[in-house]
Amino acid sequence: MLPLAVFLQNNVLAPVSMPKITYIDSSGSARTVEADIGATVMEAAIKNSVPGIEAECGGACSCSTCHVYVDANWKEATGEPGPMEEDMLDFAFDVRPTSRLSCQIKVTEALDGLTVTTPERQA
Ligand code: FES
Repeated sequence: MLPLAVFLQNNVLAPVSMPKITYIDSSGSARTVEADIGATVMEAAIKNSVPGIEAECGGACSCSTCHVYVDANWKEATGEPGPMEEDMLDFAFDVRPTSRLSCQIKVTEALDGLTVTTPERQA
């Protein structure tokens, strides 16, 4: 299979496959998409019409309608929410310890295989 993208690494063009992200909705249905490196988990969802993520503010961290639960195995790789994100999570529905705003999670190669679950409803 041909690589989907090439990146300049150490002055050499090297093939880079796109990280795959799986979104599971509240009923348990899973959808896996390929995400652009540098995009956000929210942008990958919107680009691929993943249901359950509304992203009303377009990624400005001011709406909380991109709320997801990060799979426990990926909590360390995705990091902790920043102070502004923490504030916005106060407005999200059914917040849990693994809650994040998907617009604040940048896609990197290290997130290949990331799984997130969307809440029963957005705020
Ligand atoms: Fe609005 Fe993430 S898209 S807070």
